[in-house]
Amino acid sequence: MAANIIIGAQWGDEGKGKLIDYLSEASDLVVRFHGGNNAGHTVINQYGKFAMHLIPSGIFNKKAKTIIANGVILDLEVLVLEIKFLEKAGIKLKERLLISPRCHVIMPYHRILDRLYEEAKGKAKTGTTGKGIGPTYADKVSYNGIRLFDFYDKKVFRDKLQTQLLIKNKILKALGEKPLLQKDVEKEYFLLFNKIKPFVQEGFSVVFDALEKKKEVLLEGAHGVFLDNDWGTYPFVTASNVLSGAATAGAGIAPQKIGKIIGVTKAYTTRVGQGPFPTELFDKTGEILTEAGHEYGTTTGRKRRCGWFDAELIRFGAKINGFTDLAITKLDILDTFKEIKICTHYTLNNKRVNYQDGDANFLAKVKPNFKTLKGWQKNTNGIKKYSELPKEAKEYVKEIEKLVGVKISYISTGQERESIITI
Ligand code: GDP
Ligand code: IMO
Ligand code: MG
Repeated sequence: MAANIIIGAQWGDEGKGKLIDYLSEASDLVVRFHGGNNAGHTVINQYGKFAMHLIPSGIFNKKAKTIIANGVILDLEVLVLEIKFLEKAGIKLKERLLISPRCHVIMPYHRILDRLYEEAKGKAKTGTTGKGIGPTYADKVSYNGIRLFDFYDKKVFRDKLQTQLLIKNKILKALGEKPLLQKDVEKEYFLLFNKIKPFVQEGFSVVFDALEKKKEVLLEGAHGVFLDNDWGTYPFVTASNVLSGAATAGAGIAPQKIGKIIGVTKAYTTRVGQGPFPTELFDKTGEILTEAGHEYGTTTGRKRRCGWFDAELIRFGAKINGFTDLAITKLDILDTFKEIKICTHYTLNNKRVNYQDGDANFLAKVKPNFKTLKGWQKNTNGIKKYSELPKEAKEYVKEIEKLVGVKISYISTGQERESIITI
């Protein structure tokens, strides 16, 4: 009994929401530890289909409590809508959702700045989700953030907002935007805060006591390893640390309490936004993956770029996160292929190189080396037993296991909660 972490092992959208919804059935607590509503975790179960942006995907397990921990940044409007949507679907949130008062708030100027930075960078833009994520985390680390704590004392909030508007309005004006009015922002944000206030409570002791009592805690990661602010393909990354190591600070848990670290990867690769992608397919095969996999962003609806499975990336992800297990998702999307390729390693100027050897420009130049495997050309959608997988599908999964060096414990074969093989 410990805190087990779920992390995206690629560039996000690996199917974390589905796996967390499934695994939360055996959990007492599910904790989101970083990111904001740039995340979009799809859950499909008996209650319907949900795109979760902030509330942990474990909320559907009636026995589990969920916590939005200190590492998460909050768009209050999105949070209020998500709460309403879940309550309408019959999900009880009272006493089951705690929101840390340490969470920083995404303010209207953060969203505008996100857009302005992207526009200024032109072709070199990151391709953000436009939700104000980078500017909010930047204010957090430069001591300019506004936290939920600040809403408890109107004067504290007002003074902080005033200081921020003094700075931000100068930037907005210089870049041709209309300045924001203190009274409008204040009114809107207090209204929003009052709606979430019943849920605001520090969850530190809840998590600590749960772990002392040997209960099962699931830590829900967002995004994916290669969007990590330090170890991802900077500057084509997100603003938070995505790695397993970040879960301890983002959730307020000592490292000794961490148990399993489960890396979630698609059976192929996708990426939204800009940045290098060595195994990207620009041909018909890529289009087939996009369409068969419905590869359109959960948060922005943008088309996801698609490519073959990249073992070099996941091998690095396994080392830096200490993956104890791998979960492979969307195996069923490969059902129609006659041949399937796996990138085994990279070379540059005929020499073997590794992911960590360089930056984003370096990664854009490496040559992926592929191994071709036979496809199974049989329907695997919804299969729940490993023994029922076609021989070639088993060989594909085993090849991944061999190349990455981490045991595969879950194989997902469909969108629904039940479409999963546990090994
Ligand atoms: P997340 O951000 O990691 O939670 O992933 P997203 O929800 O953004 O994107 C994953 C998409 O794949 C969603 O539409 C899921 O419903 C879907 N999905 C997850 N696992 C499987 C699977 O095994 N098979 C199929 N066909 N779809 C899956
Ligand atoms: P989930 O949790 C896919 C990407 C954006 C962009 C970069 C920076 O659903 O897997 P940001 O808005 O964070 O400043 O954008 O990061 N990105 C994601 N891509 N899935 C996500 O989350 C993502 N979160 C951020 O597309 O390239
Ligand atoms: Mg997603």
